Formats: sequence, C-alpha cells, structure tokens
Amino acid sequence: MLASSASALEPGRAVKDADALVRLGPRVTGTPAGENAARYLEQAFQAAGYATEIQTFTYSRYEDRDSKLVLGGRDLAGNALQGAAGGRVTAPLVLVPNFGAQADYQGLDVRGKIAVTRRGGDVPFAEKVRGAEAGGAVGVIVINSQSGRLQGGTLGRDSHLPALGLPGSAAETVLEAARRGESATLESNARRSEVTGRNVIARLPGVQRPDLLLGGHYDSVPGAPGANDNASGVSVVLEVARSLRNRPEAQRTWFVAFDGEEDGLRGSRAFVQQSAQVTRGLEAMLNFDMVGINAPGLSLGGSEELLRLARQVDPGIGTFEDDGRSDHSSFLDAGVPAVFFFRGIDPNYHQPGDTVVDGALLDQTADFALKLIEQVLAVAAARP
Ligand code: BES
Ligand code: ZN
Repeated sequence: MLASSASALEPGRAVKDADALVRLGPRVTGTPAGENAARYLEQAFQAAGYATEIQTFTYSRYEDRDSKLVLGGRDLAGNALQGAAGGRVTAPLVLVPNFGAQADYQGLDVRGKIAVTRRGGDVPFAEKVRGAEAGGAVGVIVINSQSGRLQGGTLGRDSHLPALGLPGSAAETVLEAARRGESATLESNARRSEVTGRNVIARLPGVQRPDLLLGGHYDSVPGAPGANDNASGVSVVLEVARSLRNRPEAQRTWFVAFDGEEDGLRGSRAFVQQSAQVTRGLEAMLNFDMVGINAPGLSLGGSEELLRLARQVDPGIGTFEDDGRSDHSSFLDAGVPAVFFFRGIDPNYHQPGDTVVDGALLDQTADFALKLIEQVLAVAAARP
C-alpha cells in the first residue's frame, strides 16, 4: 500500500537530523543555538506533516565562567560554589584551620579578609561559608581534596559572599600564602540569569487528547555539542513521527522535543504543569535519551507494565532500574506510565567530544519504538 510504504522508517534519515543539530553547537537553553535548534525541529516536524507549537517556560539559572583567584600575579582558575555571589574583592587571605567548621572560626579574625579553607572533613560547603559570613569575611576559597577542579560544589542557598572552589593542585601555593596573610584578588563571574526554555510540540491538527506522548530533550550542557546526549533521542522521536504520519497511531500521539532538561528536567516539568489535562489523559510516555552510541545496549527503564510490553516485543530487551535522570521521570511523578530508552553512558557524556552518533543505532531504536507503540496502543484500545 502506497500510504504505508511512504511512511515507513527510512534508514539513514534520523542521523541527518542528529548531525544538523550537532552543527548548531552546544544547545544550551536560552542561547541562540538553543533557539536555532527549536526552529530546526519545528521545521522538521512541519515538513513531516505535523502542526507545531512552542511552549515557553522560564526559570533562573546559576551561571559561572572563568572565575579565578589572582595571587602573586598568577591566575588560579576556580569554580564558584553554586549560590555564592559574584564580585571582585582584593583582601588579605586568612587560613581557617581544619575544614572550616563553625568551631574552626572561633577566635579567628576574618573580618575584611578572604577566608581560605579546604574541602572535606564532613563539613558542608554551606557551613564553611557561614562561618566566614558571620565573621565579616569578604570572600571564601575552598581548596579541592583532589588535584582537579572543584566541580558541582553547591551551597543549597544564596550567599552575599563570593566563594570559589580551587583545584587541589593549587593547595600548596594558596595555603602558604594564607599562612603568611598575603593579599589576593578573588574574581567571581557567577550570577543568576533568567532563562526562557522552549518545548517544541508536534501533533496532527485536531489531536487534542493523545493517548501517547513521545519525547526527548534537545538541549545540551555548555561546551558539549550533545550528539548522543541528546540529538540522538530527539532525532529518533522525529523519525518515528515521520514513520507514523499516515497511520492511525498518529491520531493518538503527541511528539515533544524538551528544552531545559540539563538544568533539572525543566521542560518536561513545565509540560506536565502547563499541559496538565493532556498529561492526565496519557496511557504512556516514551522518552529517548542517549540512544546513539553502544551497539549491544538498547535498554529500557521505567514502569513495569510498559517493560512487560517491551519484553513481548523482544524477549531479549535489556532493562534497568530507573533512577529518574531524564524527562520520563516528570511523567512518572505525574502518575503517567513511562519508559526511558537508553543505551548506557558513553565516554563523551557531557564532554566536548560528544560529536557523533551511529545512524544504524538510531534506526534500530526507532524500529523498536514503532513496535512498542503498536503494543501500547493496542492494549489501550482493548481497555474497557
Ligand atoms: N542524558 C542524561 C541522563 C543520563 C545520563 C541518564 C547518564 C543515565 C546515565 C541527562 O541529560 C542528564 O545529564 N541528566 C542529569 C540529571 C538531570 C536531572 C539534570 C544527570 O544524570 O546528571
Ligand atoms: Zn540527556
């Protein structure tokens, strides 16, 4: 039949979308590359015969770039502790003994100085910074326990003090300077910015109560072109949309390319909130994230009832215990059965080297998804 052959899966098509998205550069939410990606996806869904809609949402993101401590004419690259203020202060360093617990600040004069302490000792970053705040310090330095950069340090609140983590490789230099009370300049470029995210929603005109939602995020982290994470997943969603275009399943399905995933599943959370009625009516949500690398490994995690259907499609399909690290988890939290298609972590995860995916793996993922969709919708239709 012409209609069905015209809408079959076409090998090699999905990888072209993945490559095109990668060429836009890191698709960080709220940046021009992110907007270009949204436009690309809108046009691709439209070319496949779907109506599209951009669903926007806003949030505040903590950002930090090129922060440093300048000591004795040398730049020591640092990372702001998330929540700490930005700013530039020049002041004498003062060494806080041990690990900067509240008690370590007792009897220590940090007023007008930059407090220097070390990571660890079971003392949370927030406590190290609290002692400095209470004593009237103007900044805080925390030295990493390992030689590399101190990444992912967070206060869990906002502080009026600039606070930087420095790599352990700087320990000797900085601790010695602090013992001597030398002056240094702490330069933090950290700030909060308001970000607008854009979910791209595609559906056939008139489909207002879908049974099924297919999704994948298209945003990526700064510095990573996000080929596998997650141009791969969103390209599979597009390919499945093209394949279903002239089939009855398309009358029961919405397709969503989520933004803001890397900032904490923001896009899928926004969808669940803003499109609450659609969400409530869903029989299932299928999420695709990191499906373009690792040949042996297509694996599914999530709702047991959907995993059971997946095993009917292919008894050999791998499954894993889901730990909520992608957009399906927003739907699970909203009570919607959901599964996560995933081929496992790869060495370029969140790295600049995440630049290529294997087109055959995208096609295999789309093929399996099409079979699972048939099962899911058949079961839903059979429900009384
Ligand atoms: N694609 C990853 C999800 C992922 C990575 C799942 C590795 C399992 C293993 C996703 O984009 C991501 O990085 N998620 C964050 C959490 C999210 C809530 C910001 C993560 O896993 O750190
Ligand atoms: Zn991802």
